Amino acid sequence: MASFTYMGTKKSLARTISALCEEHEPGPFLDLFSGISAAGASVAPSRQIWCNDAQVFSRTLTEALFLSSDDRPRAEFVAKAVQRFSDKNQNALMKANKNLVDEEHRLLGEGTFEDQILLQARLRDETHGRQVELERGHSHCLFTTRYAGSYLGLVQAIQIDSIRYGTDLALEVGLISSEEHRWAMLAMCRSIARISNSTGHFAQYLTPSRSNIDRVLAKRRHCAWAYWLESLNEMHAIGDAKWRSANRVFHGDAVDVLEGINWDQGRPAIVYADPPYTNDQYSRYYHLFETAILYDYPAANGKGLYREGRFRSSFSLSRDVERSFERMISAAGRSGASLMVSYPSNGLLPHSLQKIPEMMAEHFKIVLDPLIIPHRHSTLGGSKGREKEDVEECIFLATQKPLSIPFRQLE
Ligand SMILES: C[S@@+](CC[C@H](N)C(=O)[O-])C[C@H]1O[C@@H](n2cnc3c(N)ncnc32)[C@H](O)[C@@H]1O
Repeated sequence: MASFTYMGTKKSLARTISALCEEHEPGPFLDLFSGISAAGASVAPSRQIWCNDAQVFSRTLTEALFLSSDDRPRAEFVAKAVQRFSDKNQNALMKANKNLVDEEHRLLGEGTFEDQILLQARLRDETHGRQVELERGHSHCLFTTRYAGSYLGLVQAIQIDSIRYGTDLALEVGLISSEEHRWAMLAMCRSIARISNSTGHFAQYLTPSRSNIDRVLAKRRHCAWAYWLESLNEMHAIGDAKWRSANRVFHGDAVDVLEGINWDQGRPAIVYADPPYTNDQYSRYYHLFETAILYDYPAANGKGLYREGRFRSSFSLSRDVERSFERMISAAGRSGASLMVSYPSNGLLPHSLQKIPEMMAEHFKIVLDPLIIPHRHSTLGGSKGREKEDVEECIFLATQKPLSIPFRQLE
């Protein structure tokens, strides 16, 4: 799907994964850490896709892509239905914040950079300071009270809240279906991704300064509605409805999910694992999408304004990563499927080039030499300051039966 660009280089890696899958017998592809499912999308629809991720955003996206009964939302109809309701919320929030809205509007067009920088801080302080009052008077003001002046401008935050308001009401009165509501929320995430003032992902917003204020203001001038509409028009499911009806989406910790699946009710042919490989938690990158979908008014803490109680992956904890790999590989071994793991040679699991094949050998009949893809440029998942580092990406493969062509020929 064109709507969510991959935040790293996993897209080209996905083509290699897809080629490797062609050497396997028919059967579902279980993407244990699906994220935006570049891998699943590249394998589909030649096999059934099973997805899993701990993040609600990923579950929502993969359910839309792989489980929807309809191919796409009635974009024009949904847009009209949402807009019919959203004005009420938008006008009320604009009115309640009139002075700040006017000031933001003025300073987007003119003014000194000192005033423009100061305004961003004022937007944060004043909307946050009025959080209780605004939340008492408005059912949909989450983004206004949490992210105005940081990731978004005030008007942009009001627009996002109003898109969500219109979407929720259109569903409530039965104008749009629950699938269309889901597509509308995903389009909202896409719009947030396009307008937000951050460094490519949401780990932190850019604090306005003299050197970046022009860049920040350029982001602030974008209209959330325009990107929402554009994205809604692009949204569509993968494959046809019949194919989608046999896919599955799980939501939980990858190892728990793998250990909990009843293999008597169907087995995948391939289990694919693309776990996080640094101690940076993915929930830091997905927190705005997570909040946009859950819309649950979380406490938003620290410099990044992260959600309270966000998921913490054992694959991103030095003390737990080895045990998590062991449990995952052992559970995959019991499934009868092949196991394919993407992991860089310098990931959090020490000596992964040796260790992963050793672990695989305990649970699989055949362990192939890792496929090493050098110098992939990592833009996500790197620890602070390492985000532009080149990494050596490796694909590990273990099977219970011989492949139809040798692994090395696939390079
Ligand atoms: C490297 S990304 C995978 C990207 C994916 N291959 C794609 O195409 O988008 C890791 C993903 O694993 C998820 N994740 C991290 N730890 C997890 C865990 N223990 N269980 C389930 N999902 C997890 C993160 O939310 C993130 O979406």
